[in-house]
Amino acid sequence: MGKMKDDVVLQVDDLSIVYHTIRGDVKATNNVSFELRKGEAMALIGESGSGKTTISLSLIRKLPKNAEVTQGQVLYQRENGEVQDILQLSNRQLREFRWQDCAMVFQGAQNAFNPVLKVSKQFEDTARAHGWSDKKAVRQRSLELLKLVRLDPERVYDAYPHELSGGMKQRTLLALSVLLSPQIVILDEPTTALDILTQRAIIDVLNDMQEKLNFSIIFISHDLSLAAEMADVVATVYAGEIIEIGPVNDMFYESLHPYTFGLLAAVPKLDHEQDVLTSIKGTPPNLINPPSGCKFHPRCRFVLDRCNVDVPALTEDLGSHLAACWNKEAVVEARKEQV
Ligand SMILES: Nc1ncnc2c1ncn2[C@@H]1O[C@H](COP(=O)(O)OP(=O)(O)O)[C@@H](O)[C@H]1O
Ligand code: SF4
Ligand SMILES: [Mg+2]
Repeated sequence: MGKMKDDVVLQVDDLSIVYHTIRGDVKATNNVSFELRKGEAMALIGESGSGKTTISLSLIRKLPKNAEVTQGQVLYQRENGEVQDILQLSNRQLREFRWQDCAMVFQGAQNAFNPVLKVSKQFEDTARAHGWSDKKAVRQRSLELLKLVRLDPERVYDAYPHELSGGMKQRTLLALSVLLSPQIVILDEPTTALDILTQRAIIDVLNDMQEKLNFSIIFISHDLSLAAEMADVVATVYAGEIIEIGPVNDMFYESLHPYTFGLLAAVPKLDHEQDVLTSIKGTPPNLINPPSGCKFHPRCRFVLDRCNVDVPALTEDLGSHLAACWNKEAVVEARKEQV
């Protein structure tokens, strides 16, 4: 097993995933590599269908049955320095890994709460599945966590899910996700479907939780402004690939990829809601037959002759972070004209 840097908790190397379908293979993840540091929050941003959920599900091996990981590894480093490839874990190891080491709040999960079980029961069941059956201790820990997410702990613990609003359910899920003190929490679109104030409140709560409990976060969003409030590092995902990745400030003020740049230009003023990522012209590519060369070329305003032939690699040749584009200079120039 490759050695990992001391401060890295998750290292994804050259990961590729396809979905087998009757119409052909959907190339949902291509050669994705990144590192998540201890205590760091990383945002994966990109429009719907770009492959964000696929990447995140692979990290806890929860991919649908028709998915196949065709190459790559996902290395996880425990606090004691032991390294494991998640893709090689036995089923028993995997059950332990989920929740204890890495918890995930699934897209739309607040609607998937079991309606006939009290919140307390869902906390107890999760704890028991991991060998923790002292109900009193579970209750005490759960109440602390519910308080941390700024809910009325006693009331929520004894409630049924339908007695809670969408925002309250989402906070309850956040509390549940850290019940077993995982090192990593993955949040797939945790604020989508909530109103804007509730979204902000969730982000505040998350920032608080992370400060107190010090876990690492992978935050998936199609909303750049929320990602900016959350993340230390931002990765742009397009057509199953990370096309740009860097510290949040670099990504916002010095983005080098035309797609990220376009997303930012489209960020709406705070006072009117708009689905920012759909405001880039053109449609996301078909991942069964993706475009040749740079997959963004049919939509790119900076396209060069070579772009539909040569695949650009993620490089740091210009600027201080990684971007995959043959014409970064044009983005730099366009930014100058903007101000
Ligand atoms: N079970 C599946 N079978 C076939 N294709 C799928 C399946 N799940 C997702 N896809 C396809 O994989 C691509 C990536 O999807 P997804 O990871 O859900 O993207 P995102 O989370 O960014 O919206 C899309 O083209 C989507 O249609
Ligand atoms: S490589 Fe070419 S098509 Fe792709 S983003 Fe850069 S300029 Fe646009
Ligand atoms: Mg998704």
